[in-house]
Amino acid sequence: MQIRSVASSPADLEADALVLTLFQLADGEKPDSQADAWSSGIIAELYSRGEFSGKALETVVIHRPAGLKASRLLLVGGGKRDAYSSAVARRGAAVAVRQLKPKGAKSIAIVVPVRFDVAQAMTEGALLASFDVGELKTSDEGKGALETLTIVASADVSAAVDKGRLSAAGQNFARSLGNAPPNLLTPPALVERSRQMAAQAGLEIEILERGEMAKMGMGGLLGVAQGSAEPPALIILRYTPDKAAGNDHLGLVGKAVTFDTGGVSIKPSADMDLMKYDMAGGAAVLGAMQAIAALKPSRPVTALVPTVENMVGSRAQRPGDVVTTLSGKTVEILNTDAEGRMILADALTYGQQLGCSRMVDAATLTGAIVVALGHERAGLFANNEALQQEILAAAETVGEKFWPMPLDEEYKELLKSPIADFPNIGSRWGGSITAAMFLKQFADPTPWAHLDIAGTAWLEQDKPYMPKGPTGMAARTFIELAMRP
Ligand code: BES
Ligand code: MN
Ligand code: ZN
Repeated sequence: MQIRSVASSPADLEADALVLTLFQLADGEKPDSQADAWSSGIIAELYSRGEFSGKALETVVIHRPAGLKASRLLLVGGGKRDAYSSAVARRGAAVAVRQLKPKGAKSIAIVVPVRFDVAQAMTEGALLASFDVGELKTSDEGKGALETLTIVASADVSAAVDKGRLSAAGQNFARSLGNAPPNLLTPPALVERSRQMAAQAGLEIEILERGEMAKMGMGGLLGVAQGSAEPPALIILRYTPDKAAGNDHLGLVGKAVTFDTGGVSIKPSADMDLMKYDMAGGAAVLGAMQAIAALKPSRPVTALVPTVENMVGSRAQRPGDVVTTLSGKTVEILNTDAEGRMILADALTYGQQLGCSRMVDAATLTGAIVVALGHERAGLFANNEALQQEILAAAETVGEKFWPMPLDEEYKELLKSPIADFPNIGSRWGGSITAAMFLKQFADPTPWAHLDIAGTAWLEQDKPYMPKGPTGMAARTFIELAMRP
């Protein structure tokens, strides 16, 4: 697909569709007269009949608009003008593309309204909306193919469009990994995809295999892996800036369980297929790294993605087993389905050994976070107030939603084992917190934050701006965190 930005009048643009954002009208306000002229008065009529009000993400198509060269004009609601944000802009562009693409529009031009700072978000939204969840379908029916995307503004927005393109590509890479079926995306396959990405992006990559991990003592990760015929790996990617500013070394850690059966503490079979997205945290890290390599922030970033398959088998780990983690701490496995924290524990310790000054992990860690926060916000846990605030600010900038969750020392009382340093589960309540508390034992004293994305990494129902499937959650926040001054 060709992506370009132009600073010309929308009226002269040849395209299958031109997308225009229009706002809700204040009392007595008339619709934009320029836009109304392009539609030869249809826009004013739509408003006055109440067929279009400008409410966020509302749409109407006008065919053969008299004052435009484009063959269709798609109006997208921007909501109240004062409340317009890059988050609304991103979704608006996505809604437009999701509507136009299946109807055969091959060239789409999107007009950046009001301000230029939404050009990046609109590019991003349009490209996120072009993601195809049906990659493995052998028929192209109803899919459409977008050939050119033009971002139209009254100033030069090419730098913003570039950023939007790179960020969207990273997110879509994460989504394609999350979407891949678990027979095709095994741990070795994830290693292979990471190698390809790293080679293309110019990132240094190192793969720790079972033998090395055993020598190093990564008993947490290896215990989970031992029930699967697929060999585990710890994927390490390094981005090194030409000239580092400051001495921050950011570590991004992502859970990549390519399939989670629960192990011997097996999951119920209903919806178990969805446990293919138990690698979404790792995918978000890999997608972010692809974008980071291109956007070139001035701090080093190291990615650690432990990848395993949690299976049942004669070699599988048993409830009651005790393993020694890389940190030297021992863990009694009381539930083999609490596997994410075991692989993250070793990755966090290794991140410290590699010299990360701050670490953030993303993981589809607990069903309990879905009970607590549903599907809109992901849980944010941290052992460091400054890092927590910075993540909230970064997320706000890029339109991802988190919610701060507690990590009081009292919760540690729930992590007591008579025979080992910790059990791998707490009691029945506060499951997302005890899981985070467990991770904290391995992250301390390094400033660290944990994003529990179990409820937000997979969209269960189509939204106008996103199809059912992998969301790429956390990738944008990771990119923004790496880029911040
Ligand atoms: N991968 C699951 C968590 C999950 C649940 C992700 C729903 C996405 C949607 C994780 O490995 C898990 O099984 N957690 C257990 C922990 C429990 C055994 C303490 C859970 O949440 O039930
Ligand atoms: Mn599990
Ligand atoms: Zn899991």
